[in-house]
Amino acid sequence: MHHRASAILRLFRQEGGFLSGEVISRELNVSRTAVWKHISALRQAGYVIEAVPSRGYQLLSAPDVLNVEEIEAHLKAVVMGRRFVCLADTASTNVDAFRLAEQGAVEGTVVLADSQSSGKGRMGRIWASPAGVNFYCSVVLRPSVMPYEAPQLTFLSAVAVARAIELATELRPQIKWPNDVLIDGKKVAGLLNEMSAETDGVNFVILGIGVNLNMSADQFPSDLRHPATSLRLELGRPVARARFAAVLLNELDRLYDSFRSQGFGPVREEWQQRCNAHGRELVVSDGGRETVRGLFAGIDGDGALLVDRGDAGVERILSGDVRVL
Ligand code: BTN
Repeated sequence: MHHRASAILRLFRQEGGFLSGEVISRELNVSRTAVWKHISALRQAGYVIEAVPSRGYQLLSAPDVLNVEEIEAHLKAVVMGRRFVCLADTASTNVDAFRLAEQGAVEGTVVLADSQSSGKGRMGRIWASPAGVNFYCSVVLRPSVMPYEAPQLTFLSAVAVARAIELATELRPQIKWPNDVLIDGKKVAGLLNEMSAETDGVNFVILGIGVNLNMSADQFPSDLRHPATSLRLELGRPVARARFAAVLLNELDRLYDSFRSQGFGPVREEWQQRCNAHGRELVVSDGGRETVRGLFAGIDGDGALLVDRGDAGVERILSGDVRVL
């Protein structure tokens, strides 16, 4: 977008209501004709701008695009979004962010894509990433933690996604171990964190976050192993993507700040409260075979699931499918 067009958007947001062509041309130090040209370009880009003779222009609505201007209009984060890379289409934002981090990208660099041609899911699976509807994001972080502590950041991102959904909608998400976000038992978001580390420390962590915002039922792959949904399917109305992105980055930022000053404790506590197994009995299975049954006892600092088996003690679960009874 032309920098003058973004300056006009900023003016609309600062002032609210009508802006006369004269005021805009004075503020931007350009001719009235140039103002008109930029307004036309904004309209082309999907902004709905009303023009009323003698009153001027009014911004009525912005397109649901994931551009930096739209996100920054709602962003309060300090670290997250220090730098944005917005892509129309890419293979995987995790791959892009990893490469940028290797080249020294600053902590808080956020890679966003409108669509991904090879979105990566956990366990080598594919993450369906159609254009124009969802949220695909990877954040570069450079925490001072040991490699075994890095999973804590995945729990942190799950809490951030759950908070963002709660703030942006009236839905009540839950988290399922290790790190799926569910609405009504159906998966709405997935997290894939990757890291580069030495034995004595982490170089960087990539937080990969995918949230199904406005996907329609026919856009889900037909071979899904678990039920999935999107916020729009649950709400019956679409969610504005750029605003959601800002809300999520704001929450990530606050949680990361608390993580740096207070460690994993507060994040862990909130994660446990939001977990679908909180206060419940659960069954863990591996390859379809039941391995452990007991009471949910939280997660530990390595991200293992703790299951209380009474007299048999507390079991640490590192992998497996968890079903809440
Ligand atoms: C899962 O299997 O649940 C994890 C899915 C993670 C998907 C996100 S979308 C943005 C980022 N880029 C990727 O290629 N994957 C993650």
